[in-house]
Amino acid sequence: MTRHLLSIDDVSVAEIRQLFETAAEMHDVQRREVKKLPALRGRTVINLFFEDSTRTRSSFEIAGKWLSADVINLSAKGSSTSKGESLRDTVLTVTAMGIDGLVIRHSASGAPEQVAGWVDIPVINAGDGMHEHPTQALLDAYTLTRRLGTLEGKHIAIVGDLTHSRVFRSNVKSLTKLGGRVTVVAPPTLMPSGVAHWSKEAGFGTSYDLDAVLPDVDAVMMLRVQKERMSGGFFPSPREYTVGYGLTRARLAALRPGTPILHPGPMNRGLEISPEAADAVDQSVILDQVSAGVAVRMAVLYHLLAGEEAAA
Ligand code: NCD
Repeated sequence: MTRHLLSIDDVSVAEIRQLFETAAEMHDVQRREVKKLPALRGRTVINLFFEDSTRTRSSFEIAGKWLSADVINLSAKGSSTSKGESLRDTVLTVTAMGIDGLVIRHSASGAPEQVAGWVDIPVINAGDGMHEHPTQALLDAYTLTRRLGTLEGKHIAIVGDLTHSRVFRSNVKSLTKLGGRVTVVAPPTLMPSGVAHWSKEAGFGTSYDLDAVLPDVDAVMMLRVQKERMSGGFFPSPREYTVGYGLTRARLAALRPGTPILHPGPMNRGLEISPEAADAVDQSVILDQVSAGVAVRMAVLYHLLAGEEAAA
């Protein structure tokens, strides 16, 4: 059966640990002068990006290239999607060319899962609507594990625009799977509906009070206010958002010394995160996340595409 990575639900704890081991080896490759490994020589991966992206797309592209795969980038703008071609036709067209793996980002939640039903090559979800972003969650957990040693019993706050965040939905799953204690924090208007039920079932906490949570955390993950997904007013003004939920300079001081600060990017500096927090020496791991992203995506591509013997 073809393996896909559509959701964090697709990977067991043992598989996550195995991916992290491979990622650590890939991380060493990243530091070499010559970075190419021959693992995916002769394979072709296509990046189908129907939504804007800087880091995820280039990270997948670099990851594929360092494993010697041929990587092709296709975006909605500039492809036949803009001429009205359906997703199914686009996907069937590119797979008919003989590609070996498909990385897809789409604004519709569930699109990668649909695509996986149409093809018999591995499909990797690079972010679907407000649903999941599994490789982001894996790279976040990898970054945190390297920083904290283990996630077992560690308290992690995820703060911000939870309603629109696929990063939050994937992270809650992966961090709790790895033994972390998660508290999610947002203003009531950006707290997803149904979270009360979900949090009970999945075992994470919720709060509207950032100041009460911060002094107790081992790590804090700030999320972007996703203006492009907002149709109405979710908060009175940017200033009020920052006052209630921004990682301001004052809140930075409320964290225990050395507490790592994460943000998946792109950041709204001055809105959800202050420049002091984003650039905090020894505390901000935002660029570590970016470099871990390449290593983790190399590990994912390797395990899904290099064949049974490699994944064993
Ligand atoms: C995130 C995304 O696209 O879901 N960014 C990313 O992949 N690094 C988060 C965001 O857009 O805010």
